[in-house]
Amino acid sequence: MTHGEIIIDHVNFGYQSGDAVINDLSIHIPGGSKVGLVGYSGAGKSTLVQLIMRLYDIHSGKIFIDQQDISTINKQSLRENVAFIPQQPSLFHRTVYENILYGNIDASYEDVIHAAQKAHAHEFILNLPQGYNSPVGERGVKLSGGQCQRIAIARAILKDAPILILDEATSALDSLTEKLIQESLRTAMNHRTVIVIAHRLSTILSMDNILVMDNGKIIEMGNHQQLIDARGFYKMLWDAQSGHSFI
Ligand SMILES: Nc1ncnc2c1ncn2[C@@H]1O[C@H](COP(=O)(O)OP(=O)(O)OP(=O)(O)O)[C@@H](O)[C@H]1O
Ligand SMILES: [Mg+2]
Repeated sequence: MTHGEIIIDHVNFGYQSGDAVINDLSIHIPGGSKVGLVGYSGAGKSTLVQLIMRLYDIHSGKIFIDQQDISTINKQSLRENVAFIPQQPSLFHRTVYENILYGNIDASYEDVIHAAQKAHAHEFILNLPQGYNSPVGERGVKLSGGQCQRIAIARAILKDAPILILDEATSALDSLTEKLIQESLRTAMNHRTVIVIAHRLSTILSMDNILVMDNGKIIEMGNHQQLIDARGFYKMLWDAQSGHSFI
């Protein structure tokens, strides 16, 4: 798996507890393209990207990565090819250094520092009581949501996988942190297939393709300008997000 092409073909999925969450959804994401995913809370965005990583098995349909049906790929090898930055990244109760190293345990010390610099995490890490050796969690430093997300981005940069998926935090971040995260993301996006679930539409303005999801379906797609011109759901979300409000 080297190009990172993703094909989702008539996929249906629901959690055991209830209704269908993904409804006969099909999309083609060419290798190397940058895709934004937007929609109301509960539309199924996080669920969809979790299906690509096979965290759940789909009920019907197929998902292919580089022409391989993911149900036939061993889960470990699948996950080696996808770097995922979750909506609320959880860090281990280990040092900051080990938390980044987890992206690629064979990486050198310099690689870890370099990844943290690219993720705009290096500076705040140096300001922690024991720098990179500061333990994280109950007995260690408590990091903010934005700091956790930047450590997760550093981990993803170190992992260097062909597919990168970011599930943007829903919590409001201060505008400086938001800017740092967007910059680090830009670096992380080079040369790979990227899916960004965005709550702040400003995050995905320059994406090749934006998918608008509602009730487990894609209801609109196109780049920012095409979707604005279409005067549909996306345009309504965009108009609602004047200033820095988010969905
Ligand atoms: N682990 C789970 N078990 C059961 N139902 C779930 C689970 N995770 C999500 N759901 C349900 O599936 C639907 C889609 O949730 P999902 O998290 O994919 O939405 P989302 O588009 O990511 O929303 P948000 O913007 O709030 O993150 C919701 O109705 C949600 O309640
Ligand atoms: Mg979500």
